[in-house]
Amino acid sequence: MDVFKVSGNGPLNGEIQVGGAKNAALPILAATLLTDETVVLKNVPDLSDMRFMIEILQHVGAETVQPEPGTWEITAKEISHIAPYELVRKMRASVCLLGPLVARMRRAEVSIPGGCVIGPRPIDLHIKGLQKLNCKVEIANGYVHVDASAIKGGPIFLGGRSGSTVTGTANIVMAAVLAPGTTRLECAACEPEVVDLCNLLVKMGAQISGIGSPELTITGVDKLHGCEHSVIADRIEAGTFVVAAAITRGDVTVKGIAPKLLSAFLDKLEEAGLPLELTEDSIRVLPYEGSLKPVDVITLPHPGYPTDLQAQLGALMTQTDGISIITERIYPNRFMHVPELQRMGAGIAMEGASAIIKGPSKLSGAPVMASDLRASAALILAAFAAEGDTWIQRIYHLDRGYERFEKKLSAIGAKIERLSENDMPRELLEE
Ligand code: EPU
Repeated sequence: MDVFKVSGNGPLNGEIQVGGAKNAALPILAATLLTDETVVLKNVPDLSDMRFMIEILQHVGAETVQPEPGTWEITAKEISHIAPYELVRKMRASVCLLGPLVARMRRAEVSIPGGCVIGPRPIDLHIKGLQKLNCKVEIANGYVHVDASAIKGGPIFLGGRSGSTVTGTANIVMAAVLAPGTTRLECAACEPEVVDLCNLLVKMGAQISGIGSPELTITGVDKLHGCEHSVIADRIEAGTFVVAAAITRGDVTVKGIAPKLLSAFLDKLEEAGLPLELTEDSIRVLPYEGSLKPVDVITLPHPGYPTDLQAQLGALMTQTDGISIITERIYPNRFMHVPELQRMGAGIAMEGASAIIKGPSKLSGAPVMASDLRASAALILAAFAAEGDTWIQRIYHLDRGYERFEKKLSAIGAKIERLSENDMPRELLEE
């Protein structure tokens, strides 16, 4: 297994390019099953999660061609309606196959993804949405079985305890685009990745209005066709780079990202006193004197502060002068990085679903364990601010969602190396 060795860093300097969004590309790849014509996708990031999704598409019968890095041509002429456990278990987002299979095949058998370290990931809202579309849904032997022979549009309120659901909205929209009648979806997720999916579906011939708002109206059509689509930029990758620049007091321009996709995040950084220069498609972080100010944040569905940038902000707040309170409203258990940050010297106390961060902490390098994708990023960011070497194990979590992470960051001056576990000093390896 690979590990990262990160050595405490001086300021990062230069330009860094954002890649395609993982969380847009995953449902978009699934959406290629909605037509028997070829869909050409560009700006697809090269990540292990993409490879899992491509493997599932191939398993259900799609032909996949990669003419060049970042581009996939997918043709789903004849497909099966079954997504088996051995493939689905590798990635929760494979639940996004439910909508397209229901729409195209009028039936689906999709294994229910297993647990997840960031907390329970129920699919009750996906099921409720399908039932509202007049589908019969049964759970048996770890699978969701859907009989969609009588599928038809109708009114659906898709909100849950924490508000909207991102992949749930994706599934119901994909199921509804080929369902007879009109579906009025209330409390739809407004995340830019859902907007990107809807834009692709419209290019394929779907009729959707209200895109980007919490109320979507979908009028079913008989057939969808092929198209070409470029996946939007990854706002979470961009935000992670912004924090990397801020925590090293660097001068970094993050390119290929529209700041308006990150308004809640950038607003908090401005409140913290981070000097920023924004253009239509770039964010420049400028060096600052003294220390940043603490901020209080609550994660919420878009356009609120994104949960996927919670851990990274926490790492930055360990370096500010005062007390920050970061509260999770989407995944209350998403604080697995906190004990590892504490081992590096961070002053953090947990109180329910809130991290109370008292800064500034003098961080020092230590062997730490990555537990999930965004936690891995937070540990690397903290390592940039630490004195000495930090060894980060289980970085396969990071590889699921950050493309060439260490290469992009090394190019602007980060001291981060990908090594084999065998290169780690033996006494630092966990038993
Ligand atoms: N929820 C339910 N019932 C459901 C579905 C969701 O109660 O049927 C709850 C969840 O427990 C959670 C909230 O609703 O409290 C929101 O979950 P959502 O369904 O929106 O999450 P998701 O679609 O499973 C996507 C991203 C996550 C991201 C969340 C929130 C993808 C592939 N995944 O997950 O990304 O954290 O939305 O924005 O799009 C990541 O990239 O690191 C990641 C975990």
